[in-house]
Amino acid sequence: MSASQEKLAALLEQRYGKSQQIPDNIIWTPQVEAMLSHKSVRTFLPDSLPDGALETMVAAAQSASNSSNLHQWSVVAVTDRELKQKISDTVARTVPTDRIPYLEEAPVLLLWVADLFRGAEITKEKGGDPFVFDYLDSFLMASVDASLAAQNAALAAESLGLGIVFMGMMRNAAKEVAEIINLPQHSFATFGMVVGKPDSSRTSSIRPRPEQPVVLHYNQYDRERYRDHIENYEKVFLDFRTAQSMKPKVWQDSVYESATSMDYMGGRENLRETVQARGFKLQ
Ligand SMILES: Cc1cc2nc3c(=O)[nH]c(=O)nc-3n(C[C@H](O)[C@H](O)[C@H](O)COP(=O)(O)O)c2cc1C
Repeated sequence: MSASQEKLAALLEQRYGKSQQIPDNIIWTPQVEAMLSHKSVRTFLPDSLPDGALETMVAAAQSASNSSNLHQWSVVAVTDRELKQKISDTVARTVPTDRIPYLEEAPVLLLWVADLFRGAEITKEKGGDPFVFDYLDSFLMASVDASLAAQNAALAAESLGLGIVFMGMMRNAAKEVAEIINLPQHSFATFGMVVGKPDSSRTSSIRPRPEQPVVLHYNQYDRERYRDHIENYEKVFLDFRTAQSMKPKVWQDSVYESATSMDYMGGRENLRETVQARGFKLQ
């Protein structure tokens, strides 16, 4: 095996772990290698982003497919330290830790916005009523588009040697965050993403995923398919946690907790009201 083949094999092993089936027919391209190298980063240096990094990320984001080419997303780059701290303090009140160190450390917080504001304005200026935006699908469409854009931006950032972590917890304080960044009606910050230079003295590792039969079905959904593969994932999950000095945990218990504990919601149980107050009727 050449050195580069060894590197790719090691990457795959990190992605799936030793106890699971590892596909042996991956077609490697530089893009595939970059995607398989992803890991969330939660420790940052205080440095600003390199010149052009934000614009590069946004160009990548804008290159994602988007529903009907309607451009129904926006991104608010929070670069002002005080404003970012205000958001951090606001969201931190909704989590047990009281502080969100990685949000405080990172130079930029990106808020990815499902954005029907522009469409509503254009429609009203032409004398129309944007009633289609009252339907759930319009909200979903804009949210999906914002997500695809954000993932492209994440890959671009990682290709520049930057680190990112998505922040769904922004929705814990959706109303307050919207006010702080002055979001107009018909727009909603679906999630955040911090970006910055990773602090390599406090690195994270690639988190293994379940082997492919857990997520891959052929032609029709097979309800039993995952069952034979979960125990393998439990082994890998535990190995990863042990290697990271995290306390032992069973993955299926995480699933259970996420499905049965309101603690997990962090305030998001009232999201429908907030989203509707922002102009989405969700019909
Ligand atoms: C939509 C979304 C929201 C997320 N929200 C948070 C968050 O609020 N805080 C956090 O620390 N990580 C968050 N994450 C990161 C996930 O925990 C992480 O992607 C997952 O554990 C897999 O780890 P990896 O990204 O390192 O592979 C989020 C990820 C996604 C996709």
